[in-house]
Amino acid sequence: MSEKSPVGFRLPEGSIWKGKTAFVELGCITCHSVVDEDLMPEMTAPRKIHVVLGGEITRVKTYGQLVTSIINPSHVISPQYRDKYTDAEGNSLMTDFSKEMTVEQMIDIAEFLQARYEVVIPDYAYNEYGYGP
Ligand code: HEC
Repeated sequence: MSEKSPVGFRLPEGSIWKGKTAFVELGCITCHSVVDEDLMPEMTAPRKIHVVLGGEITRVKTYGQLVTSIINPSHVISPQYRDKYTDAEGNSLMTDFSKEMTVEQMIDIAEFLQARYEVVIPDYAYNEYGYGP
């Protein structure tokens, strides 16, 4: 197993409701709408960048990928966004939230979005690496 293996990565349970609030407060809504969610306040000006989150899976397939796409957006960028939403160096145009977002907000947002993506939370209990719950 490599030193940077995601095995064993697991966030504590968050609050969907608080995640939705944090999503609005941190300004995620300036670039994102979320499938089947009414996010208040509604955007009055048209978004310069608009990436719909949730629903049909684009890139995010696992919980680990979902969290990575929030805290390290340039790590992997879906081909459908690569031409449109990257700068000259190929980095994501998504804001870097590493200084603004608390760990609690990150956990809650992951919980909120996870309910909108069909992502799989890995269960590493008693797998071949001998990890417990
Ligand atoms: C300035 C615009 C902007 C803001 C603000 C922004 N994002 Fe993004 N986001 C993007 C762009 C552009 C992409 C597509 C490129 C990429 O994957 O990084 C993206 C991609 C994503 C994805 C992956 C989408 C997929 O299915 O591939 C997630 C999840 C996400 N953002 C969550 C968030 C959250 C949570 C916040 C607020 C904390 C946020 N974003 C704020 C622009 C933004």
